[in-house]
Amino acid sequence: MADQQARTGEDRRPTQIPVIRWEEPPEGPVLVLLDQTRLPAEEVELVCTDAPALVEAIRSLAVRGAPLLGIAGAYGVALAAARGFDVAEAARALEEARPTAVNLSVGVRRAQAAHQEALAATGDPTAGAVAALAAARALHQEDAVASTRMAAHGLALLDELLPGGGHRILTHCNSGSLVSGGEGTAFAVTLAAHRAGRLRRLWVDETRPLLQGARLTAYEAARSGMAYTLLTDNAAGSLFAAGEVDAVLIGADRIAADGSVANKVGSYPLAVLARYHHVPFIVVAPVTTVDPATADGASIEVEQRPGFEVTELSAPQVPVAGAGGGIPVAPLGTQAYNPAFDVTPPELITAVVTEEGVVSPVTAEALAELCAGQGRT
Ligand code: MRU
Repeated sequence: MADQQARTGEDRRPTQIPVIRWEEPPEGPVLVLLDQTRLPAEEVELVCTDAPALVEAIRSLAVRGAPLLGIAGAYGVALAAARGFDVAEAARALEEARPTAVNLSVGVRRAQAAHQEALAATGDPTAGAVAALAAARALHQEDAVASTRMAAHGLALLDELLPGGGHRILTHCNSGSLVSGGEGTAFAVTLAAHRAGRLRRLWVDETRPLLQGARLTAYEAARSGMAYTLLTDNAAGSLFAAGEVDAVLIGADRIAADGSVANKVGSYPLAVLARYHHVPFIVVAPVTTVDPATADGASIEVEQRPGFEVTELSAPQVPVAGAGGGIPVAPLGTQAYNPAFDVTPPELITAVVTEEGVVSPVTAEALAELCAGQGRT
């Protein structure tokens, strides 16, 4: 059916996309980011010289996705320390830049703790800055390793649930190299299936309103050479009804202690569809995304974004016109409901795949054990 719109990617650039790096030019250290608001039209870099610039990059989604937010937050603390700014103030502003992805505060706090510890031990601000940077680099590296391990566990799970291969996987939002120190979370599993010759097609939800699926996941899929097809979020239901989806794979921004998963708005309806159509619904996330301090789904703070993201087409490549800088698609003054995330309850989730293994069924006890193994309680 939808093969008419299908495209097999022919772009053979490396699948690992450099999204964040620390540089030390003579003028002082900087954090260089790939500006994800400009993709896929342009590959433009943003140079942050202080924490407020990084906070703005986080809010505007120039840098985004849970694991990458953690890495960026840690580098942000290192940047404040290396440039002699108030580290506690920078850490607070970074943590508050976006509320839902717990990885952001995990990354910020890790670098801040390393800074404080070194400062207390030596009294030397340079030692504090060096320690914060080392913590950021370690987190960056650990995320790359976690990606590889999630991909392996996820592929094994797919083989178990769907013997015979030829998987047709549906994904929502973006969860590849653009959100990670490695190849990502859910998208890394898809890539592993593709490389093993077991992926028939990746169905890519466009992900309204900011089009992370159309702009970013399709960009990554094209680079990988996998067969993929873009669909509007509204088309997913008819795709399930036609029997064209074998599994749903998504990432997560926060997993509460009871197993409720916050991810890009539109994930929950997919979980409901998957349950109705007896299709596995799989969440792929590093253990740092599990938050033992958030008891349940109702306790997860869901970020509310400005209405103009819905009432206007605000992609950077369209000419400027409306209040938010885009082309209006609704009457002036229209109110919009624009939560950035929704919450899927554990009973709709077949499995959570982490670098430490697969949790299925998704229970509070199994998640607590996972976190305890990493010293997070
Ligand atoms: O608003 P975004 O683009 O930061 O949202 C990102 C997502 O919802 C991803 O699916 C999530 O961070 C998991 S990616 C590993």
